Amino acid sequence: MDWGMANRMAQVIQSDGRCLFLPIDHGYFQGPTRRLEQPGKTIAPLLPHADALFVTRGVLRSSVDPVDATPIILRVSGGTSMVGKDLANEGLTTSVEEAIRLNVAAVGISIFVGSDYERESLLNLGKLVDEGERFGVPVMAVTAVGREMEKRDARYLGLCCRIAAELGARVVKTYWCEDFEKVVEGCPVPVVMAGGPQVNSELEVFEFVHDGLNRGAIGVNLGRNIWQNEYPVAMIRAIRHLVHEDGTAQEAHELYQSLEAEAH
Ligand code: 5RP
Repeated sequence: MDWGMANRMAQVIQSDGRCLFLPIDHGYFQGPTRRLEQPGKTIAPLLPHADALFVTRGVLRSSVDPVDATPIILRVSGGTSMVGKDLANEGLTTSVEEAIRLNVAAVGISIFVGSDYERESLLNLGKLVDEGERFGVPVMAVTAVGREMEKRDARYLGLCCRIAAELGARVVKTYWCEDFEKVVEGCPVPVVMAGGPQVNSELEVFEFVHDGLNRGAIGVNLGRNIWQNEYPVAMIRAIRHLVHEDGTAQEAHELYQSLEAEAH
């Protein structure tokens, strides 16, 4: 691996081989979604606890202090919205030249396997990887499921992750599911887990994150279950305990509860 690529990978994946990415890119198709109405305010207290921020260029320029040292993963796909015809019909919205101008550590793109736009999204991934590899910028592929969250099983997600890796993604983001080791084993590059919409209890989040890490995920790209929580700093610190300190779900829960009590 060339020095630039290796250096960028090391910025996002920590020396323990693990990572905690904080995605706040949701506005690119959801608009001012709950608790992300003012992205700068949401992320300020969370940034010190994140290994990297997943964000669009607009929010990066408007809401993140360039002096901040948190590595950036730039969301470079989009072009669709919640109210449009099909979320899967994404294109590339941002060039690798712009990514380099913004001095980012990596770029991220969604792929929509099984959708009407499967081919376009996969060819976009291929093009982005060509450009990224040329300039030493790693590509994270996001296996998107649109509104169909029921697609989250090991067979489907394993297929998506493997295709993303085959097309050259350096990291793949997918959803946690039962038998998560099947997803990881079939994917020759590191896999990180997203959370999807906020779940019912904090413990549920800690349990699936812990299970996915045990089954081979290298970390998380977890958004709504952190910043839509009543106590987002407590939540991210508890997730950090799982990712970087090999904590149990119960320990993470106790940490969350003690930080929540302090915040009262
Ligand atoms: C949105 C994304 C998000 O980065 C990803 O879904 C992670 O966030 P969450 O944990 O809220 O699902 O790719 O398209």
